[in-house]
Amino acid sequence: MRAVDVIMKKRDGGALSHDEIRFFVDGVTSGAWPDYQASALLMAIVLRGMTPDETARLTDAMVHSGIRVDLSRVPGLKVDKHSTGGVGDKTSLILAPVAAACGVPVPMMSGRGLGHTGGTLDKLEAIPGFRVGLSLEEFTAALVKTGCGMIGQTSQIAPADKKLYALRDVTGTVESIPLISASIMSKKIAEGIDALVLDVKTGSGAFMKTEADSRMLAQSLVSIGNASGVKTVALITDMESPLGRAVGNANEVAECIEVLRGGGPADLIEVTLELTKRVLVLGKVATSLEDAGRLAQQAISSGRALERFGQIIDMQGGDPRVIDDLSRLPHVDTQEIITAPRDGFLTRVDAELVGRASVQLGAGRDRVEDAVDFGVGIMVLAKPGAAVRRGDPIVEIFYRDRERLERARALLHQAIAVGDAPPPARRLILDEVH
Ligand code: URA
Repeated sequence: MRAVDVIMKKRDGGALSHDEIRFFVDGVTSGAWPDYQASALLMAIVLRGMTPDETARLTDAMVHSGIRVDLSRVPGLKVDKHSTGGVGDKTSLILAPVAAACGVPVPMMSGRGLGHTGGTLDKLEAIPGFRVGLSLEEFTAALVKTGCGMIGQTSQIAPADKKLYALRDVTGTVESIPLISASIMSKKIAEGIDALVLDVKTGSGAFMKTEADSRMLAQSLVSIGNASGVKTVALITDMESPLGRAVGNANEVAECIEVLRGGGPADLIEVTLELTKRVLVLGKVATSLEDAGRLAQQAISSGRALERFGQIIDMQGGDPRVIDDLSRLPHVDTQEIITAPRDGFLTRVDAELVGRASVQLGAGRDRVEDAVDFGVGIMVLAKPGAAVRRGDPIVEIFYRDRERLERARALLHQAIAVGDAPPPARRLILDEVH
């Protein structure tokens, strides 16, 4: 079999056989397929698509590029949650301790920022000392002790995805339902979970901009998960404007701690609770969504979830004192405020532009090797629909470098719009796919 024949077959719209897909994935994993041929096939897949059967085979081949983690030492049904990526999308840092405090073990393998979206790993690393590079042994030990382990992708779990993800990021081949499905689900199936709750984002700040595409992605992810024995449900949630107020890294951690203390912004609480409720039902510690909602609320109001977050941080080498003292998180003192240009109603705070501004400040990366500045970020002070007067603060920018500030400011001016009438109300939870 020759790589060029497989590429040409897909280029011309053919469906790849099981053997051809395995040949590709094995070749990428071993290095036998050079990057230029792998990239050519990825682009052909973006343009020509894949059938559900090809997508399932691709996922399966990617799972088998590494090991499938055995978490049988960890008692209980193990449930993870994964988002397709958004801006201010910090629900994992709240959901994991709440679910663990309610008795559901959460093995969570997350990613770094991709494009304009933030990554859970970068946020966790904003906590001084926090290690996301645990060995599988340490990961299992953390799960047994605290009911939660939060790690990055290892070279043992779906290594084919590790290579393909990096190639896709720099070859314009991220936005593809079969490729996103195989990327997410190969990691999730390999991490040894029993069930999975997906947050499929839709809107300007998501990779899928329309609800129709997001629904197709959700259906693809859910059917792959269920077919491979991982009970999977997906919520489709709004990502037209950032979730919560904080966009960055340390400021997002602070906002999560605020929610775990019983406060925090309403939109973030709503999306996090809806996802958490499904985790508790799939983990069989709750019999209904209502029951699950009560358990989650109690875990927060009693302080158990916050305390659990401290234990998780401690177990992974971080400074647990951050939960009582937010000033221990990295921060910058230099700030600037963008104000409303006129009286009216805030009609837009565009998630993608805010995400890009945050990357410009240094909260994300332009290149893979770039270091993240955990202290910089953006606070969205007013949400779409708010009545505003000229000069009212809309967005606060925490910056370190003036040149970066200029670039971020230009994007943020484009991101906000004020009109004469409030925009139509948007629902946060748009659909559920089983
Ligand atoms: N998250 C992933 O893990 N993979 C993708 O392709 C997109 C988002």
